Amino acid sequence: MNETTSELYNRSAQDWKRAEPRLLSDFTARPFLLSWCEPVNAQSVLDLGCGEGYFTRQLKQRGAARVEGIDSSEEMILGATAAEEAEPLGIRYQVSDAAQLSGFRDGEFDLVVAVFLFNYVDSEKMTEIMKGIFRTLRIGGRFIFSVPHPLFAFLHDEAPPFLFQRNGAGYFSGRNELFEGQIWQRDGSNVPVRCIHKTLDDYFRALTAAGFTSMPDVQELYAQPKHLKIDPEFFEPLKDKPLHLAFRVSR
Ligand SMILES: C[S@@+](CC[C@H](N)C(=O)[O-])C[C@H]1O[C@@H](n2cnc3c(N)ncnc32)[C@H](O)[C@@H]1O
Repeated sequence: MNETTSELYNRSAQDWKRAEPRLLSDFTARPFLLSWCEPVNAQSVLDLGCGEGYFTRQLKQRGAARVEGIDSSEEMILGATAAEEAEPLGIRYQVSDAAQLSGFRDGEFDLVVAVFLFNYVDSEKMTEIMKGIFRTLRIGGRFIFSVPHPLFAFLHDEAPPFLFQRNGAGYFSGRNELFEGQIWQRDGSNVPVRCIHKTLDDYFRALTAAGFTSMPDVQELYAQPKHLKIDPEFFEPLKDKPLHLAFRVSR
């Protein structure tokens, strides 16, 4: 990996700034994840890999009592704090690695979210991050995260509006290999993304190793008829393909 993930996000941070849904996953993943986060009202929430705060702001606007956003990219956090200064919601942002949660007390959050964070780390680091999440969640608190669907790179050609270059890697033999990718916005532009490939059971194994013992809800997300109706040209190439995977588990 020549460019670090922080460098990649520092250089593309301007293109992630948005107040309205623009990216493919703003339609196919984030609204569903927000609905899963409910009830948000009066909750203490941690958003790991919060980026420029698109999802974080919506959690606060839905009535969360406290929202903390953490991201390893300085430029993404600068974008988030600029939005906070322009329209204060009371969100606290920090530049930090998601594995560094020592500043938070045991059981201090009701809800921890990680929207497309784990595709930037290998399985070992994902497990380390999940251990921190388990520790900082109160008993009965919820952990919600999304990742690219593990089969997506194997079922979709390397073409817009979403792609990962797997360079011939296999589903099992390609574990923990880095696939560079791109995700498109409806205006035709795109932003760089990455996926450190994991299989389905890598996620379950990491949850178990972190201490989660209850059965997670798992949802496969895809371009639905309602999306095709909004913009048939944009969503049509993804019709019937599994795009993202969402997990929700209670401590
Ligand atoms: C695809 S973006 C998603 C941003 C945001 N969650 C959203 O839904 O709009 C992934 C974010 O994860 C951040 N990230 C990647 N690895 C990280 C790590 N180890 N610790 C904290 N943030 C990380 C990146 O800097 C980037 O902002």
